[in-house]
Amino acid sequence: MEQLKKRMEVKNITKTFFGKKGYFTAIKEVSLDVYDGEFLVILGPGRCGKTVLLNIMSGLEEQTAGSIFYNGKEWKGLNPEIGMVFQKLALMPFKTVIENVELGLKFGGMEKEKRREIARYYIELVGLKGFEDYYPKQLSGGMQQRVGIARAYAVNPKLLIMDEPFGKLDAQTRYQMQEDLLKIWEKERRTVIFVTNNIEEACYLGDRIILLSDCPAKVKEVYPIDLPRPRDMVSKEFLDLRTIISDNTDLSI
Ligand SMILES: Nc1ncnc2c1ncn2[C@@H]1O[C@H](COP(=O)(O)OP(=O)(O)OP(=O)(O)O)[C@@H](O)[C@H]1O
Ligand SMILES: [Mg+2]
Repeated sequence: MEQLKKRMEVKNITKTFFGKKGYFTAIKEVSLDVYDGEFLVILGPGRCGKTVLLNIMSGLEEQTAGSIFYNGKEWKGLNPEIGMVFQKLALMPFKTVIENVELGLKFGGMEKEKRREIARYYIELVGLKGFEDYYPKQLSGGMQQRVGIARAYAVNPKLLIMDEPFGKLDAQTRYQMQEDLLKIWEKERRTVIFVTNNIEEACYLGDRIILLSDCPAKVKEVYPIDLPRPRDMVSKEFLDLRTIISDNTDLSI
């Protein structure tokens, strides 16, 4: 059998904050692996520490204890090979769709013509062709999420981390976005870490699901999902899996 390459190893990560009320541990001794090319879902209840964990994995925040290994080597600080779709999207309001998407490339010093070409490619890939010159406020929530995804893909990250990207969308748009995201993932074959608190979404998207406990977040269980794609959300296998995970979940998420 083909040996899967580990892109990232998270080893015994703990994060403790010190605030007005004293020490507060958000995540506790979390260990997990991320394999090359996989669609990994991290599933956990609200406020369990998902964003804190992602920020540590991408190097935006420092852990209190434990280590991150990237391609087999210990990694500290910001990792330029990681792209993020943030929970709070933070699109630039006075920049158009195409200007938002090419921003990272501009910072990287790429010449205008080249970065426009790349931005156009990803805008089309996320289904926003024709909206290049719109401003974020002229777009729906789902369209803004698409801009965030295009922006993250445009910088060509080896690993893409998405923090509850569809959390605020209505059910219909959410299903559409899930399908479109899988199409992009199948085409681009980038390693994706997708965070959600929605069990159905996790079962629909993931090659594996890492289930976190309530705060402080610990790894409760790892579920490999071998259901064929595209998955049928009302098939018996799908509903059985959803029930198994639901029964093992700390809160009614
Ligand atoms: N900089 C900080 N200082 C103190 N406490 C923090 C800090 N950042 C996060 N926390 C706390 O850590 C806990 C986990 O926060 P986190 O944002 O990771 O949750 P989450 O799982 O992403 O939640 P949600 O599903 O609502 O996005 C929360 O109780 C939060 O208040
Ligand atoms: Mg969060």
